Amino acid sequence: ETISLDQAKKLAARAAVEEWIIEGETKIVGIGSGSTIVYAVERLAERVWKDGELSDLICVPTSFQARSLILDHNLNLGDLDRYPILDVAIDGADEVDSRMVCIKGGGGCLMQEKIVAACAKRFVVVADYTKKSLRLGEQWCKGVPIEVAPIAHVPIKLKIEAMFGGEAHLRMAKAKAGPIVTDNGNFLLDWKFVAKREYDWDEVNHAIKMIPGVMETGLFVGMAHKCYFGMADGNVKAQV
Ligand code: A5P
Repeated sequence: ETISLDQAKKLAARAAVEEWIIEGETKIVGIGSGSTIVYAVERLAERVWKDGELSDLICVPTSFQARSLILDHNLNLGDLDRYPILDVAIDGADEVDSRMVCIKGGGGCLMQEKIVAACAKRFVVVADYTKKSLRLGEQWCKGVPIEVAPIAHVPIKLKIEAMFGGEAHLRMAKAKAGPIVTDNGNFLLDWKFVAKREYDWDEVNHAIKMIPGVMETGLFVGMAHKCYFGMADGNVKAQV
């Protein structure tokens, strides 16, 4: 019997909350973006409002969406000015390889997600089984999202393609004529890398980040401490 994707997301999210959010210990938690993190916030709210735990927990958002989630669940909203060091950040991912390199930014929130993850003592990823790969691009190449200054999207696209091959496309809005604008007022390139090529993701991440106008890349290298995958059979597989 296989479970639904939503069930898989929920299992992963709840497992991470149980293991990382500890009553009397965890004070500041980073809240990621996307569809999986919703289940983590629901569980947090349950623990606060039903179980009477975690009364001083502060939640630091990684996006407009995360901020709304925190407010909708009546959790305490914090920011990095007041809480620059987080105990743990929990977030989803678009793909995770065997070394826990993650591609993030399918939802366009990669910059704030990476900032918050980098402020956390531990960064924990929650995802369903479709996100788990041995190597990035193994199933299908979703591309690496890259947040860029609007005036530089064309030169950045050309530079990335010349350096590392593949094709980078400006992400266009669906319900608007024109490109998607991020929470930070920037554009997004989705770089479809060459799935068959062997990339050194740490090197690629650094090289792309150094192109003037690049705000952030969706490559999270050496950041994840533990990943939880909800599997099709209803189990949770942890990767460290
Ligand atoms: C948002 O920008 C992304 O990085 C999300 O964290 C990622 O897309 C995971 O989303 P889902 O939980 O919806 O798969």
